[in-house]
Amino acid sequence: METLKCIETRRSVRRFLDKPVEKELLESIVADASMSPSWKNSQSVRYVAVTDKKISAHIADECVLGFTWNGKLLKSAAVIVALTTVTGRSGFEKDGSFSTSQGTHWQSFDAGIAAQTFSLAAWDRGLGSVIIGVYDHDMVKKALELPEGQQVSALMALGWPAEEPKAPPRKSVEELLTWK
Ligand SMILES: Cc1cc2nc3c(=O)[nH]c(=O)nc-3n(C[C@H](O)[C@H](O)[C@H](O)COP(=O)(O)O)c2cc1C
Repeated sequence: METLKCIETRRSVRRFLDKPVEKELLESIVADASMSPSWKNSQSVRYVAVTDKKISAHIADECVLGFTWNGKLLKSAAVIVALTTVTGRSGFEKDGSFSTSQGTHWQSFDAGIAAQTFSLAAWDRGLGSVIIGVYDHDMVKKALELPEGQQVSALMALGWPAEEPKAPPRKSVEELLTWK
């Protein structure tokens, strides 16, 4: 798909067909996401693909801070992808000190870029996804058995779309852009 068309047409998809996402397809999306820019090319973002129904049901039922909207869409997804981040790299010096006054901000920044690249690469292949921010970090980390030194930066629901959502309204360029 042409780049601008992909950016303009991508939507958050929250209802999915009961159809698996092939391993190779997910691998190719992660390969595309790996091309995202990152702090000094630190590449601290990792992807945990959850297809085990027991784990995904636990995340959907128990780890969404009571927000059943998210539980329902996570259950509909073929795969729950956790974007995780190796901490202490993006925005850090080799001696472990912060490179800037913005502290840990840059690791979330890198994860955000990776999430958008992932979403667009999935959309280009006909797959829908939505980024999930409302979840219990510590519970998901435990459910995924993440090693120390890794945090969950976001969850994503991924699958073949069963809906064609309309774009929610956007602010005008005049509101978004200022010149100095
Ligand atoms: C950081 C972040 C967290 C989000 N968390 C949720 C969420 O918990 N549940 C949900 O349904 N959508 C979530 N979304 C999706 C937004 O609601 C969606 O991107 C926004 O409404 C714009 O719609 P669009 O993606 O279709 O353009 C999140 C998006 C971002 C970037």
